[in-house]
Parts: sequence; C-alpha cells; structure tokens
Amino acid sequence: MSPLAITRTLPPDATTAALRTDVAQGLTSSPKTLPPKWFYDARGSELFEDITALPEYYPTRAEREILLARAGQIATATGARTLVELGSGSSEKTRHLLDALTRLHTYVPVDVSESALAAAGEALLADHPGLTVHALVADFQGGLELPEAPGPRLLAFLGGTIGNLLPAERTGFLHSVRDLLEPGDALLLGTDLVKDEGTLLAAYDDSQGVTAEFNKNVLTVINRELAADFDPAQFAHRAVWDAEREWIEMRLRSLKEQTVKIPALDLAVHFAAGEEVRTEVSAKFRKEGVRRELGAAGLELRDWWTDGTARFALSLAVRR
Ligand code: SAH
Ligand code: AVI
Repeated sequence: MSPLAITRTLPPDATTAALRTDVAQGLTSSPKTLPPKWFYDARGSELFEDITALPEYYPTRAEREILLARAGQIATATGARTLVELGSGSSEKTRHLLDALTRLHTYVPVDVSESALAAAGEALLADHPGLTVHALVADFQGGLELPEAPGPRLLAFLGGTIGNLLPAERTGFLHSVRDLLEPGDALLLGTDLVKDEGTLLAAYDDSQGVTAEFNKNVLTVINRELAADFDPAQFAHRAVWDAEREWIEMRLRSLKEQTVKIPALDLAVHFAAGEEVRTEVSAKFRKEGVRRELGAAGLELRDWWTDGTARFALSLAVRR
C-alpha cells in the first residue's frame, strides 16, 4: 500500500490570516456575515458527518442514490484515470465512484479540513491499496494547483457545496474549474434542488439540534483562533428560506445586546438584541439555471440525473 501523501498548498499562517480578514470584514459589515468555510475545524467536520445521518437531512441520501445508480455510466462516459474531488470531507459517497472507476490511478481529495483529509485518505487506502491518494489541504476558491496525474481527469464537486458559494463566487469558481479542465476531462457536480419550504427548513433546523451546534461551531473556531470571547449560549441558530433568491440562510441571532471582544483583531463587536449574523447560504437549483451557469463559464451540460423523487441532481459537464 503506498503511503498517503498530504500537501498543504497554503503557507502555515495563511489559514489564520484569511480567518482574520474574513472575521474583521464580516463582523464590521452591515448586516454581519461570516463565510461558511470556517465551520470545518475537526469538530465541525464531525458535526457535518452527523448532519448527513439526520432523518431531516435528505441531500446526502439522495445524492448517494444517484451515485449508486449512475456510477457505471459515469465511469464509461469519462474513462477517468484521475479523480479530483473538491470539498471531499469524509469521501464517503465517493466510494461508489471509486468502485466503478475501474481505470482509476490517482485520487486527489481537496479540502480545508486537514483532519477530514487524513481520516478519509487512510480509510480509502486500506480498501484500495493500489490507488495513489494525493490529498491537498487547499481552498478550492483560491487558485488550485493540481498535482501531476494521468488523464482523463474527473473533477467532482459533490454534496451541493456549490450552493454555499454566493452567486458571484459561483461564477468565478466555475470559470476556474473550466480552466482546470483539459479536453477529455469532465466535471461531476452535485446540486440540491428547489423544493417545498417545509422540507428545506427541517433539513437546516433539525429536531436534535445538530445543525444548531454545527452553526455555533464557527464561534468556537473564532474564540480558539482569535482569542475572542463569544458565548455560544447567547446566540440562537436560525434557518430562513429566501424564496426570491431560492436559498436557505443559516444565521446566528444574538439573544441579548452584547459586545464581543476579539483581541487578535483589536476589535470589539457590538450586537443589538435580536441582531443576526449570516453564516451560510445554501442555494437550491433548477436544471435550466445549472445549464445556464455552466454555459456562462464555458462548460456544457451533458447529463442530468436526479434521485427518484427529484430532490437532488448530479450533472456531468465538459469543456465547450
Ligand atoms: N463532499 C462531502 C462533504 C461536504 S461538506 C459530502 O458531499 O458529504 C463541505 C466540505 O467542503 C467540508 O469538508 C469543508 O471542509 C469543505 N470546504 C468548505 N469550503 C471549502 C473551501 N473554500 N475550500 C476547500 N474545502 C472547503
Ligand atoms: C456542505 N453543504 C452542502 C451543506 C449544505 O447543505 O449547504 C452544509 C450544511 N449546512 C447546514 N447543514 C449542512
């Protein structure tokens, strides 16, 4: 079994530097915001895995259903020798692709969570001893440089994580994906679909409170990394459906008027009672919107597959 290679493409202090910038900008804006990538320290990655098993959180099960049904077709259509996966997390669903991609030589999981990459990489190598696994600790929004690996390559972005990017970020991201693809390569994109508000709200505000803990984890990350004094008990989790923009917003609502100190930024942040911080958008899609956004980035939608009840879709796209 070849050892797991993990490359950090970020300088050691880059993560903290980016967190400092994001927190300073986001918490001095009106309304206040924080980018969702900061949920995913080791605890946040575990909490996300717990979310995927919740009865209300259907996206993981729906996407797994599609992968199980279509992995063979994806393997035939792409003939991939390298699988690059952005925001790979636990790589659990990816196992269905790895089983079907019989020509696969190299798997390149990319994530900001080093703990998730290490655990997933070791587990996958145990089951696929002949596979080369080269994990990248990197921000998929920040100019990715992929390791040398044989083509054709399949670039997978699963889970609906593209919905966590704001529209302008999505545009930039899809252009950068297009630039990474060589002729013969393909993109496999998971998107959660627009559906009734009740189902969506339940998925983002579960009865066991796991999503609430996941949401508040960002405050714990800021406390640890920037010596802040957030009291997570003084914030409440909220999930709101924006019907016009067709996205869920996760927010943290301040339960009282309070001032939080962030000494590493020399900042004191005032919250009015009831004031909310937006911590995530999770956009929901329709087929024509996905086709249009791919097309605008120079990508052509080739296949569109949904689960049996059309909750979630997988798209296969190529460079135009
Ligand atoms: N693909 C998996 C995990 C989804 S959770 C699934 O479908 O279940 C989202 C993952 O993306 C997390 O592992 C998180 O650490 C990672 N992530 C979020 N923002 C990122 C960014 N900007 N760059 C790299 N990874 C990111
Ligand atoms: C990773 N991403 C696709 C998840 C989502 O559904 O937007 C993150 C998440 N947020 C709350 N629950 C899960």
